[in-house]
Amino acid sequence: MSESGGMSYKEAIEKATMTRFPLIPVRGVPLMNLIADNFDSVWDFCPDPSDLLIATYPKAGTTWTQEIVDLLIHNGDAEACKRAPTPIRSPFLEIVSPPPVPSGLDLLKTMDPPRVIKTHLPFQLVPPGFWENKCKTIYVARNAKDNLVSYYHFDLMNKTQPEPGPFDGYITKFMRGELSWGSWYDHVKDFWEEREKRNILYLFYEDMKENPRREVERIMRYLDLSCSDEVIDRIVDLTSFKKMKDNPMANYSCVPLPVFDTSISPFMRKGEVGDWKNHFTPEQSKMFDEDYEKQMKGFNIPFRTLI
Ligand code: A3P
Repeated sequence: MSESGGMSYKEAIEKATMTRFPLIPVRGVPLMNLIADNFDSVWDFCPDPSDLLIATYPKAGTTWTQEIVDLLIHNGDAEACKRAPTPIRSPFLEIVSPPPVPSGLDLLKTMDPPRVIKTHLPFQLVPPGFWENKCKTIYVARNAKDNLVSYYHFDLMNKTQPEPGPFDGYITKFMRGELSWGSWYDHVKDFWEEREKRNILYLFYEDMKENPRREVERIMRYLDLSCSDEVIDRIVDLTSFKKMKDNPMANYSCVPLPVFDTSISPFMRKGEVGDWKNHFTPEQSKMFDEDYEKQMKGFNIPFRTLI
């Protein structure tokens, strides 16, 4: 599998027989069956201490962060960061797709450290090797309602994810932690609790939107990198929503029909804060907020207000 030599990622996906995969609980967390079946190998994965983990609940800003990190590592070299699509440059640890699409673990075996590894696994399912080897970890969290809306559109267009069904029922599934990769609440809370002990850089999507330069610099410092002001400006520009939407190596156009049906919703959909207001009714919003208060009780995670 290579972008230049053998079969491309896109060709491999075109050849694979994809379907909506059912969810199977792994230690109480619903995961797509292909991931669940392979989970023991993921749990045993031993990263190098130089590897970086980017951890998120799905649709919290993973791809954006992966692009920022790749550009920082390459000192803002846009061409270097167009060497391959995001999932090849920065493998998705737990992902397993039907052959001939390589799994995250298969891709990682072909790469020398330091690697940038993506995961959506909740804290309790992250392979312990990451903590034993003191790997740096960037966690990105996003406002629950915006995260939900983004995930809903993703589940509509990604034909490997379970059918989202009507929006009302989707809200219930989100609140109950029944979506793929489990509870948003447990995800953001558990990484928050562990952030100091594990030296996790805990970021917020809304902060990245508000002041991308500040957050790019924060990531740069965390990675012990030093880029010039000019390079930082370039990275901020290259990782704007508009630039990434037009970048075939970052916009997931590498995933063809029928897997991603972008006529339903593009991967780079809106990239906005507060889009939930266009989807939640006032009643749904009230019910969600009441439940949110209960689920987040005792946690002062500085999310932007839900309203
Ligand atoms: P929306 O569906 O709200 O547009 P992930 O990469 O974790 O799957 O997250 C995808 C979400 O992040 C989508 O949100 C996508 O549009 C948004 N996104 C991706 N790149 C972005 C960028 N450069 N700036 C802002 N949002 C971005």
